[in-house]
Order: sequence, then structure tokens, then C-alpha cells
Amino acid sequence: MSVHTTVAPSYDVEAVRADFPILREQVHGHPLVYLDNAATTQKPTAVIDALVRYYHHSNANIHRGVHLLSERATEDYETARSKVQAFLHAREPREIIFTRGATEAINLVAQTYGKANVTAGDEVLITAMEHHSNIVPWQMLCNEKGAHLRVSSINERGELDFDAFQNLLGPRTKIVAIGHVSNALGTVNPVKRIIEKAHAAGARVLIDGAQAAPHIPVNVEDLDCDFYAFSGHKVYGPTGIGALYGKAELLEAMPPYQGGGDMISYVTFEKTLYNKIPHKFEAGTPDIAGVIGLGAALDYLQQLGIEKIGAHEHALLEQATERIASVPGVRIIGTAREKASVLSFVVEGIHPHDIGTILDREGIAVRTGHHCAQPVMDLFAIPATVRASFGLYNTKREVDALARSIEKVKEILG
Ligand code: ALA
Repeated sequence: MSVHTTVAPSYDVEAVRADFPILREQVHGHPLVYLDNAATTQKPTAVIDALVRYYHHSNANIHRGVHLLSERATEDYETARSKVQAFLHAREPREIIFTRGATEAINLVAQTYGKANVTAGDEVLITAMEHHSNIVPWQMLCNEKGAHLRVSSINERGELDFDAFQNLLGPRTKIVAIGHVSNALGTVNPVKRIIEKAHAAGARVLIDGAQAAPHIPVNVEDLDCDFYAFSGHKVYGPTGIGALYGKAELLEAMPPYQGGGDMISYVTFEKTLYNKIPHKFEAGTPDIAGVIGLGAALDYLQQLGIEKIGAHEHALLEQATERIASVPGVRIIGTAREKASVLSFVVEGIHPHDIGTILDREGIAVRTGHHCAQPVMDLFAIPATVRASFGLYNTKREVDALARSIEKVKEILG
């Protein structure tokens, strides 16, 4: 079912749980069972401490002051950039732009590369399983430019129809934008093959890695993607911070995203010379603490090992799929052969929100709704699903608790 099946889980999950203070919370008198990791992940003490340490010892603006605190903050900020570079296996730190998250990273590419390169009659190709963040920015661009948004279909398992995708690639396709992992279905897309085909057709490729970065090792050089976006809060880092990888030659040629401080090298009222990359894309004082916290989160992930995390989560996903699929009336939404972390389902005759509410009374946090992927819900002809999504600290015991509670929901409402 996933790329992780051959790697044995090999860390002590109870020791790992001790690193996350929030996991000791009680919810409605029950120990918290947090299964909403695709929405956001909890933060280890190492990340929380990095934020506190920054504000206690280093807070100052970056790239500006000659004083010690500013030097310290700048060094920590730029060190975090190198950590993101290493995490994504990018060639150079200047290929990493800090953004508010994956959403802003995608908007940045649409508003800069997109505006500069997409003209009337051109096409942007996405898939039917995209998150709204990887639909709407392209829709806005296409509307503005008189270009066309093309949507590649998926099959009943929630996998990309690769032939349909290839057929939609053409001489007018300027950009292909695709999620590495679907947040609503858990499907892992064959992004390397997609990138090869798109490049052969002359298109540039953006990968929305928001749901992949916490689970799958990412190597942008090997993938040869042109852009890769991810969010800090989904990789156990702070909210409001994320990163965009872009090939240096593309970033250099792109116009800036926003104007302001730090993105300039010289300003007169007549004309402004822009700073070199990555600063050209980081106007204004950034979320310095968030960047440093993100760096600490990536250190934490690297220490555990993404392969081991993926294998651990995969074992939970298999266990949960088996247990929950066997409950009468349950239909799993998203049964791709390659999946990561996400188990979406509906129960006949019971609204997902009612299930979510009852699970919450048992201390179990899941997401219910359309998961910011309404076209996916439309395809499966459902308004919403219940989504359990697993993280590095979840346990088999928690999967059992989820399955028992679903059985209970059936008894009460079924
Ligand atoms: N994109 C996030 C999710 O899937 C918020 O829940």
C-alpha cells in the first residue's frame, strides 16, 4: 500500500511521545488521541524551546543591524534555511524561500512565474485530487490571463489516471501543479514520472508537498521538480511558516512577489533594483522565530529519520484500514495502492460531523468535512468524510481506541 513497507519501524514511540507535552492533555476526561495530523501536527519540546530561546536570547531584526543580537538572529535564520535545503536536498540555500506556508508558496509561484510566463490560450494542468490551495491560485491566474485550467481525472481508488494526464499535456501546457500526497485521500502520486512527462512536454512543475514532507523523504534534485512547497506546521514546526524550493535559474528570472524591505538592493523614486535570491522574495520582516522553530522541527525529524517515521505511520494506517473497513456500513474513501498517513471514510446513514462529535467526547481528535478538497468530495458523491491522519507519535493503542469508538458510534446512531 505504500512506499514504506520495507523499512522496519525502529524508534521507541513512548519515548517520542514524552517529547510532546500536549499529548499529556485530557479531553473530556479521556487521554487525548490526536489523529488530526494532516490538519496540523503537535510540537515537540525542542521546537517550543527553540522559540522561547530565540525570544529570550536573540530577538532582533535580521540582515540589518551590526549589533550582536541582530547577527545572532541572522545567523540562526540563515542556518534554518540551510536545514530546509538539506531536508529537501536542494543544491543551494538560495533556492529556499521562506513563506507563510505551502499555500503562500503556491500563490507566490502563480503570481510571479505564472504571471510572467502564462499568456492567453495557455494551459495550467492540475489533478482532480488537489487541495483548494493548489486549485484556486491557478484559477485566479488563468482568469486573469485568459488561460485554461485543465484537470486530470482520478479513478475510483483515488489514483491519478496517468493516461488521461498524459493526454492533457500539450504544447500550451505551461505549468503542471500537483500534490505529492492527497490530503483528503492519502494517495501518493508518482511525481517523478509526472515531472518527466511534463518536462518532455515543455512544462514547468510545482509539487505541493504539504502532505508529503512529514512522511516521505523528499529529494528535489532527484525529482527534478521546478518548485516544491511545504508547510512548517505539518512537519511538527510552528504555524505561519513554510518554504518554497525553486530552481535558482527560475527564481532569478522571476519578478518579485511583494515589494518592501529586504527584497531591494537600491531604491529611488524612479527605479528599484531588486536584491538577489532568496531575499528578492522575502519582503518585510519575516517570521524569524517561526523559521528558527521550523529548523528545530527539521532537526527533530532528521534525528528520528523520515523513513522510520513513514514506516511507523504506515503500520498504523494498515492496522486502522483493516479494523475500520471491517465495521459494517463503513466505506473507505481513497484506496490507492500507494498511500501515506490518511484514512478517510464514511459510515452509512451517519453524518461525518456527528461521528466527529462523538469521537471528540471520547478524547479522539479527527477532522470531518470536505478537507479543503470539495471537488474530491463531489467526485465520490459525498458531502464530507471522517479523516484520521497519523503522525510519528501515534500508537496501535490509539488506533484500537478509534476503531472501538467507531463501533460505539454505530451502536448509538447506526
Ligand atoms: N490542509 C489541511 C488539512 O488537510 C488543513 O486538514
